[in-house]
Amino acid sequence: MILVTGGAGFIGGNFVLDWFADPHAEGIVNLDKLTYAGNLATLEPLQKDGRHVFVHGDIGDKDLVSGLLKQHQPRAIVNFAAESHVDRSIHGPGEFIQTNIFGTFNLLECAREYWGNLQGLDKDQFRFHHVSTDEVYGSLSATDPAFSEENSYEPNSPYSASKASSDHLVRAWFHTYGLPVVTTNCSNNYGPYHFPEKLIPLVILNALNKKPLPIYGDGQQIRDWLYVGDHCAAIREVLAKGKLGETYNIGGWNEKANIDVVKTICQILDILKPREDGKSYADQITFVKDRPGHDRRYAIDASKIERDLGWRPAETFDSGIRKTVQWYLDNPAWIQGVVSGSYRDWLQKQYS
Ligand code: NAD
Ligand code: DAU
Repeated sequence: MILVTGGAGFIGGNFVLDWFADPHAEGIVNLDKLTYAGNLATLEPLQKDGRHVFVHGDIGDKDLVSGLLKQHQPRAIVNFAAESHVDRSIHGPGEFIQTNIFGTFNLLECAREYWGNLQGLDKDQFRFHHVSTDEVYGSLSATDPAFSEENSYEPNSPYSASKASSDHLVRAWFHTYGLPVVTTNCSNNYGPYHFPEKLIPLVILNALNKKPLPIYGDGQQIRDWLYVGDHCAAIREVLAKGKLGETYNIGGWNEKANIDVVKTICQILDILKPREDGKSYADQITFVKDRPGHDRRYAIDASKIERDLGWRPAETFDSGIRKTVQWYLDNPAWIQGVVSGSYRDWLQKQYS
């Protein structure tokens, strides 16, 4: 089996669900701390699936992680667990340092001890897959080429600095100890089960709830949108065929300005669920104070993973965003479960 961390979050949850779509898939031990971003409702379809073992705990807990490795003898670790929201890292960076840096350090140390005791094929085949972000490369100008794996690290937010630190630790454990690692740096994901404090799900829910659609600054910041199912497929490829010690950039070839993303969502909702007053959801767009240190543009050059491993995203932004909006319309129970009191507290803190 494999050990997945953060598998009750947005990308980790999609990864676990996609993994078990294959009836012959190996088991998964899913270690998640269930922070505000972790949600067992995402994993509900697996409740009776004996191949999925959920463990509530922290990647920073040495005894727990070492015990799980000894007990389950996974052939790989895929590390999704992180604090992932830039705005939250600006309000309070402490948890980001704790989980993203110390947590990754602890996982690496536990993995090193476990791998060191493996023998033969088990040792040769073991993998530590670290999931990271394009934000470690900093911000691009409008004319810069997209981020390649050769770009230097220039993180600008507490979140991206903590992820950059974790990437450096993973790299060092490969070069110093020979731990068999691969790292992937991906662009902005979107799709089902996305916690509604990130731009796309926030806008969908605010639109439906007759609330303002907050655009930071001038709305001309650019992100490179990657459908989460494509990201999960890319991770499976890298896990199976990635070269040890390498990093792979994963992107959707979908650069969009924030304002255009929001307008597209409004147009889709205008068709799928028109406002009662006949007006467009675009009327709810509201420009608000910019994010401090807001990175202007991210874009991924995903040619290495295509050339070396044959992966390319299947979704265009048009197809992916339609599926996503439809998913939120079709899943009110999941939404109801996540918009708790603490979610409302966050909206109050960030947007009031
Ligand atoms: P998320 O915030 O939705 O989920 C994170 C999950 O990790 C949650 O289930 C949470 O409970 C769990 N977690 C947090 N701290 C933990 C700890 N100490 N121990 C165990 N579990 C813990 O995040 P996501 O969007 O699914 O991102 C997953 C990974 O992908 C992160 O490493 C993130 O940096 C990276 N990433 C995300 C995006 C994106 O667009 N969402 C893009 C690039 C990279
Ligand atoms: O690039 C990869 C990163 O993408 C991941 O590493 C992060 O974990 C993930 O959260 C995401 O970071 P962003 O900061 O780009 O995502 P977010 O959805 O928070 O914001 C997307 C863009 O939209 C960004 O330019 C900020 C803007 N925005 C966001 C919110 C929440 C708004 O204009 N208004 C908003 O209310």
